[in-house]
Amino acid sequence: MIRRNPTFSKLKGSYLFPEIEKRKAAYLSSHPGAELLNFGIGDTTLPLPKVVAEAMARRALEMGGIDSYAGYGPSEGLLELRTSVVRAFYDASFTEEEVFISDGAKSEIGRLQLLLGQGLRVAVQDPVYPVFVDANILSGTRDMVLLPCLPENGFFPDLKPAVGCDVIYFCSPHNPTGVACSFEQLETLVSFAKENGLLIIYDSAYASFVSQGGFPRSIYEVPGAKEVAIEVGSFSKLAGFTGVRLGWTVVPKELQYVDGGAILPDFRRLIHTVFNGPSRISQEGGLAALTREGMQGIEKNITTYLENASLIKRGMEAMGAKVYGGKASPYVWALFEGRRSWDLFEELLNDFQMVTIPGRGFGPSGEGFVRLSSFCMREDALKIGRIILNN
Ligand code: MLT
Repeated sequence: MIRRNPTFSKLKGSYLFPEIEKRKAAYLSSHPGAELLNFGIGDTTLPLPKVVAEAMARRALEMGGIDSYAGYGPSEGLLELRTSVVRAFYDASFTEEEVFISDGAKSEIGRLQLLLGQGLRVAVQDPVYPVFVDANILSGTRDMVLLPCLPENGFFPDLKPAVGCDVIYFCSPHNPTGVACSFEQLETLVSFAKENGLLIIYDSAYASFVSQGGFPRSIYEVPGAKEVAIEVGSFSKLAGFTGVRLGWTVVPKELQYVDGGAILPDFRRLIHTVFNGPSRISQEGGLAALTREGMQGIEKNITTYLENASLIKRGMEAMGAKVYGGKASPYVWALFEGRRSWDLFEELLNDFQMVTIPGRGFGPSGEGFVRLSSFCMREDALKIGRIILNN
């Protein structure tokens, strides 16, 4: 038999979110009938806009018709959808050839490892979306540099420790702290990447929660970013597609390897090799989401989630936490000074039936924090207030 891929032994025992599910299940089995307030994994709860659900239903039915059935689509995704993505998010500043429709940001991060190859030095924000760390460990990254994002630095890291790295993963609005970068901060990031020859993998999964001027929704709002960044976008949190699976990736034609060769043809070659494009049904949903009616439904849902975030923030403040995020992001990042995250997680679960995510699960700089997701039911967000009043 084959030997085990040695990189598996470098991973932590279990991935963060299944571990939370395991602890939730253990609580429920010892407290049958308990009703948990769910602020854990960032999983959307509001229904899809009607126009989106109808478009997918229609396409599914068409797949049952002799004249309307269709098999494989382009690996890069439907041309119409790539056009819509460029118009909706990039002010038409890319060609369709530079945009690839994916089945979501998480699987795309996995595929990107094949583009980047082994033996790299990689920098990540700390705390960090665990996929960046685990996917890199699995693909044989040589070295990983953690860049602390703390209240003391406004959650924007000192980039100097990343000198000598090949790649920097950057997420804004940031999962898990919920803090969005300003234009000046992203300018700093882009200049740093240029000066030091780093590729930025920019995760914009939460961009649709940003509405304040001076806080970009895309890294490409910063001049020169096309020369240093790949942007990974997602319909999951934008349009409630966590269960539908759809995203996109932008690989600008300006992006080059150290020898001056273009990265775009290699990425296309990779996608042709390991991916057949997302389902036609989900792509039809994506097209509907980007229509005027779809966008109206999306904005309504985002407003509701941001209202939930504000209720959660008030509740956590009343519990004595210092609270960050939740304004341009669905995540609230609550600090209980002097406490340990996993203890807080257990205490909130046992005493208040609240499911959160321990900040330590996202990296050492998350110690003392818990993350609360506002992709919850409104009733759960309101209950935080009632809990505080009753205690
Ligand atoms: C999260 O809770 O951080 C994310 O929703 C999980 C994911 O997107 O994979």
